[in-house]
Amino acid sequence: MKSYLVCLVAAWSFISAGASFADAPIFIKFSHVVAKDTPKGKAAEKFKELAEAATKGKVKIEIYPNSTLYKDKEELEALQLGAVQMLAPSLAKFGPLGIKEFELFDLPFIFQDKKALAKVTEGPIGRELLNKLDAKGILGLAYWDNGFKMMSSNRPMHAPTDMKGLKMRIQASKVLDEQMRVLGANPQVMAFSEVYQALQTGVVDGAENPPSNLYTQKMHEVQKHLTVTNHGYIGYAVIVNKKFWDKLPVEVRTQLEGAMREASKYANTIAQQENDRALEAVKKAGTTTVYTPNEKEKATWQAALLPVQKTMEDRIGKELIAAVNKATH
Ligand code: LMR
Repeated sequence: MKSYLVCLVAAWSFISAGASFADAPIFIKFSHVVAKDTPKGKAAEKFKELAEAATKGKVKIEIYPNSTLYKDKEELEALQLGAVQMLAPSLAKFGPLGIKEFELFDLPFIFQDKKALAKVTEGPIGRELLNKLDAKGILGLAYWDNGFKMMSSNRPMHAPTDMKGLKMRIQASKVLDEQMRVLGANPQVMAFSEVYQALQTGVVDGAENPPSNLYTQKMHEVQKHLTVTNHGYIGYAVIVNKKFWDKLPVEVRTQLEGAMREASKYANTIAQQENDRALEAVKKAGTTTVYTPNEKEKATWQAALLPVQKTMEDRIGKELIAAVNKATH
């Protein structure tokens, strides 16, 4: 039923888009799964503002936040069918599409900091990865930052061994699956929109999130413990339906590209401060004990998780991992 609906909307979008570029407004539906008040939510709003101004209202961006239109897996299907034109899925969500290389961003401790990350997202490796989307009818426009993930559950997690037996929600990434398994936890793939309820009802015990996602979904209300592990990364690829994009008048496309460049600068500037603010808000809410590992404890998390880089070599590509390590060290 859902697929049938997606097809109908897609057909309608193509008919209306194709016939009317010359005069009528061009609508871009931008669907995403997080709250408005997150780095991605705010950057999407910024893009809308800049794009509508640059095109003098010729392009109208309709943003559908918080999975109001589609959940994780559906949104990629909807983009390929043309039911929506723009998304910004997390980089962990491209594996099921057949582009496993994106899962390199999920490797634990692959980036020491945001400077190292930028070497990849703003360099040739990032560009080549986006180019791989072409074959799927998708055009990759930009990378938007979010932040480093932290483990949450109802149990104190000071050491990696504390993760044993926990049912942990993950995004649909084989690297994240492996990451939880080496900790002795049981990974469970689940759409982002379902996580709060799953935590509340005990379907899963915990999750891994950057503070901005945890706080804006109110997960701190149902998670007693949060450890500032910063063990992995979440960022996004802003993507469009390639056919739709190629059909846009050249002038409009250029204006939109300019707006996207500016919005991306904004996204990558606010991400860290938004996450810092969210972590403070979690602490202030008083429902969750926030634990920051000391240097020795950090080393135990790294020792437990770094081997995932090796075991996932076959999936992601040994050379690609080596190239990332070379570019970032
Ligand atoms: C998640 O599913 O945890 C994230 O990808 C959500 C998001 O878009 O940040």
